Amino acid sequence: MVGTYSIDEIFELKKIDPPYQEVFELAIPYLKTRLNLPHTYIVYQYAQLLLKEEGGSPEIAIPACILHDVGWSAIPEDKQLTAFGPNGNDMVLRRKHETEGAIIADQILRKVGYDEALIPDILKIIDGHDTTREARSSEDAITKDSDKLFRLSALGYRIDAERFQEDLQNRARYLREKMDAWFLTKTGKELAIHELEMRARELREQRERSS
Ligand SMILES: [Fe+2]
Ligand SMILES: [Fe+2]
Repeated sequence: MVGTYSIDEIFELKKIDPPYQEVFELAIPYLKTRLNLPHTYIVYQYAQLLLKEEGGSPEIAIPACILHDVGWSAIPEDKQLTAFGPNGNDMVLRRKHETEGAIIADQILRKVGYDEALIPDILKIIDGHDTTREARSSEDAITKDSDKLFRLSALGYRIDAERFQEDLQNRARYLREKMDAWFLTKTGKELAIHELEMRARELREQRERSS
C-alpha cells in the first residue's frame, strides 16, 4: 500500500490497447523493481492523452513509454536510489538504466515482430530519456513529459514522497519549483498545472478532515 492506494489494483493488462499488449506483457518481468509497473502504466496513460492533443506517432511513443524504464532491472535495488530523485546523482547508473533499457527493449520489440523500421527511433528515445533534456523528436517530448507527469499523479506523488521521505507539502513545493523546467509540450505543462492543483486540493481536504 502507498497511502490509500493499493499497487495491485493499478495495473490491468487488458486495459492496454491490443497492439501494445504483447509489448507490455513481455516488459512486466523487467518492471518488478522500483514500483516500475504502476509507474509505466501511468506513463502509458499520460502518453495517450498527450498524443491526442500534441500529435506524433503512437507507434513510436507508446512502445517507448512502455519500455523506457526496463533497464532498471539491470541495476541492483540497493543502488537505485543513488541514481534518481532529488539526491540521486550517480550519473553512471542513471545512464546505465538507459543503455541497458535500449538493449532489453530491442529484444522485446524483435520478439513481438515489431515494425523494424520504427525500432531505431523507439530505442533512441529510451537511450537518453533521462539524461537529455531537450525534445529530440515530438515522440521523445511526449515520452519525457509523460514520465515526469507521473511525479504529479495522485499515486506517483505519494510513492515519491514515501520513497524520498519527504512530507507531502514539501514534495508539492519541490514539484512546483521544478515544473517549468521539466515539461516540453504545451499539453504537458497544462496537465502538470492541473495535477498539482488536484494534489493541493487533496491536501487541503485531508487537513480539513483531520482538524
Ligand atoms: Fe528512467
Ligand atoms: Fe520513468
